[in-house]
Amino acid sequence: MKIYCGTDIIEIERIRQSIEDMENKFLEKIYTKKEIEYCESKKAQKYQHYAARFAAKEAAFKAISPILKDKSKITWKSFEVENDKEGKPHIYIHDIDNTAFESIDISISHCKNYAVAYVVVIVK
Ligand SMILES: CC(C)(COP(=O)(O)OP(=O)(O)OC[C@H]1O[C@@H](n2cnc3c(N)ncnc32)[C@H](O)[C@@H]1OP(=O)(O)O)[C@@H](O)C(=O)NCCC(=O)NCCS
Repeated sequence: MKIYCGTDIIEIERIRQSIEDMENKFLEKIYTKKEIEYCESKKAQKYQHYAARFAAKEAAFKAISPILKDKSKITWKSFEVENDKEGKPHIYIHDIDNTAFESIDISISHCKNYAVAYVVVIVK
C-alpha cells in the first residue's frame, strides 16, 4: 500500500476572469454538468466554488500522476467533485482504470480571494 497526496491553491479572481472572458467555452471545458449545477446554485458566491473545483482537479492530478500510465487519457472533466448530503466533497476520477485505488479523499476550503484543495490517494 502506498499513499500519494496532491494540493493546489488558486486565486478566485483568475477563475472569475476566465469565466467572464470565455463564458460557456471555459465552463464546458473544465467542469462537468453536475459541477456547474452545484456552483450556479451558489449564486453570488459561485466563483469560490468554481475555483475550489479547479484546485481540486489540479490537486487530484498531482496525487495520481506518479501512478498514471497514460496521461493523454486525462482531461479536466476526468475529475468530478460531488458533495454528499452533509456537504462533504468526494472526488471521482473517470476515463482511467480505478482498480489500483484503495481509496481517495478530498478536502476543500475557500475564502474571499483564494480556494484550496487537498487530495489523498491510497494505492493498493
Ligand atoms: C462545513 C464547514 C466545515 C465548512 O467550513 P467553512 O469554514 O464554513 O468553509 P470552507 O471554505 O473552509 O469550506 C467549504 C467547503 O467545506 C466542504 N464541506 C462542507 N461540508 C463538509 C463536511 N460535512 N465535511 C467535510 N467537508 C465539508 C465543502 O467542500 C465546501 O466547499 P464546496 O461547497 O465548494 O464543496 C463548517 O461550515 C462547519 O460546519 N464547521 C463546523 C464547525 C465546528 O463544529 N467546529 C467545532 C469543532 S472544530
